[in-house]
Amino acid sequence: MSSDYGQLLDATIHHLQDLKSRGTRYVEVSTETLRSLSQPPVRVAQVSKPAVSPISKSADRPIEKTAEIQPTSLPLASQPETSSPRPVVAKSSVEKSAAFAALRDRVMVCVKCAHLASSRKNVVFGVGNIDAQLMFVGEAPGADEDAQGEPFVGRAGELLTKIIQAMGLQRGDVFIANILKCRPDTPGQSSGNRKPTPDEMATCVPYLHEQIDIIQPRVLVALGATAIEGLLGKTMGIMKMRGNWQTYRGTPLMPTFHPAYLLRNQAMSEKRKVWEDMLSVMGKLEMPISEKQRNYFTKVQ
Ligand code: URA
Repeated sequence: MSSDYGQLLDATIHHLQDLKSRGTRYVEVSTETLRSLSQPPVRVAQVSKPAVSPISKSADRPIEKTAEIQPTSLPLASQPETSSPRPVVAKSSVEKSAAFAALRDRVMVCVKCAHLASSRKNVVFGVGNIDAQLMFVGEAPGADEDAQGEPFVGRAGELLTKIIQAMGLQRGDVFIANILKCRPDTPGQSSGNRKPTPDEMATCVPYLHEQIDIIQPRVLVALGATAIEGLLGKTMGIMKMRGNWQTYRGTPLMPTFHPAYLLRNQAMSEKRKVWEDMLSVMGKLEMPISEKQRNYFTKVQ
């Protein structure tokens, strides 16, 4: 990030935090400014360095050298071309952490969706290892996540944690994020969730694209139809897509059922489908798979 850009960003964030601490909830921003703010910062290419994998050291990926990437002039709600490779930008771990922290700072004060900014308790940025080789993407925070500021901590989250552990990993080995960083509001209702609107998704998903660009996972798992739609921009139906490898800007993406679906439908056959998707993910990451793991959720174990 250029120092001018960094200073400007720091000053802007500082100013907004100051306004917020003094009770200001909204600021007027021109469309032009919003468009500029939605652009990723300029990245500077680094000398290539082997990455250390928390999952499989033998499967370390080389990081390519790239030319400097200029900010693009995408409209605010547009998505990157999901079929073309995402930019691979080699960063030292210090630069990576700084880029992630800067992104977090922007997301935590985001008020692009005024209705969600005013109803949320917390922005749910994401959690986990920024060097993760595996990243899970869900839909949006629910009430528990909104209260705790962490994705997947409610009942569906407990199930996701069990799935991750069944793969031989811990939550801290992977990164977990959502398409939306704020809980979709439900005015007039004391409970319940709603699906994010297309506008909310288009507004928030650029943050997820930036998270993925910084983390550079080797494999993405999209949990449920909304995650697939947000990442790939298509809605072919989760029943048709799950279990079939897709590509998100050059990164293999496995669509699978949302854990909330497994809570609603307790059939062994549905659990097995998700588990087969995870076995496929483990295979892609060259993780060891035991005979016991291979047979989870089959009748004969
Ligand atoms: N469902 C999601 O999609 N994300 C969460 O963080 C929690 C539940």
